[in-house]
Amino acid sequence: MPTVSQKSFRLVMGTALGSVCLIVFTGALVRLTGSGLGCSDWPRCNETKFVDVSTGHTMIEQVNRLFTGVVSASVIAAVLLSYFRKPRRADLVKLSWGLIIGVLAQVVIGGIVVLTGLNPFANMAHFLVSIILITNAFVLYRRSMSDAPSIYIRRLASGSSSMLLPLAVLSALAIVTGTVVTATGPHAGDEDAVRFGFALTSVARLHGVAVMLTVAFIVFLAVKARKWSDKRFSEAVQTLLIVACFQGAIGYTQYFTGVPVILVAAHIIGAVSFWLAICNVLIEESHS
Ligand code: HEM
Repeated sequence: MPTVSQKSFRLVMGTALGSVCLIVFTGALVRLTGSGLGCSDWPRCNETKFVDVSTGHTMIEQVNRLFTGVVSASVIAAVLLSYFRKPRRADLVKLSWGLIIGVLAQVVIGGIVVLTGLNPFANMAHFLVSIILITNAFVLYRRSMSDAPSIYIRRLASGSSSMLLPLAVLSALAIVTGTVVTATGPHAGDEDAVRFGFALTSVARLHGVAVMLTVAFIVFLAVKARKWSDKRFSEAVQTLLIVACFQGAIGYTQYFTGVPVILVAAHIIGAVSFWLAICNVLIEESHS
């Protein structure tokens, strides 16, 4: 039976993490270019053709579907390698299966998004399941770096690990309220798509408040971290603070300039970067 070196294993896990992040951008490209219903059917593109590249919209939608293939290949490789890895570790095998389940869930939800004419709940679920998938891939990547399983949640030297819980809750709230703003706003992916009937200003304000609370808590953690002699944690919190401030600046700029597509796209890249920075703070580093 072939065996896999730790280096190759880490490379494949890194590729899986990269691909589950990248598909969020290709999915966003579909929505922002109004290509969501470029293919009116699923898994076929439309009633007459399985693959249709006759217009820009069908092409973009199908590039996204094709990229789903790339993601699928990378997560299947992750599962196979986790079985071939010596020594085989149950935690890595389980986490790789988590990727498969997440991708299958996304294929089904993606189908529901199309078949329900871009239903806003389905759109929200699509983004949020991606965030869960990214978290799973991040833990797997981090754990692939050492020979021994580490604990999941970072342990703070000062014994204040419970402070990470409000950070997790607030940041999740910032992400969830963001998806509500998107499901209310003008960038559904098709002019005729059903939207939440909220006032955009109200949901954006709610999202802004969740973000401000999150940023305030990150500042609090950054101050605390400087007092503790935990250099790695301090650096992770500082990185998070920088990413959150950039993301907040993009958020306000897009809001006050009428949500232009280019800034909405940057905001999605920022949301994924923000979540990776959150994972970097919350999830224990491996010590090989
Ligand atoms: C840490 C800071 C922030 C994070 C993590 C964040 C996250 C998100 C997420 C996840 C989405 C949904 C993306 C999607 O479903 O495709 C979103 C949308 C949005 N956010 Fe933020 N956001 C942040 C800051 C802000 C701020 C300060 C504002 C200002 C009010 C803002 C305004 C918006 C708007 C207007 C949308 C909807 C854009 C659209 O039409 O699709 N965001 N945000």
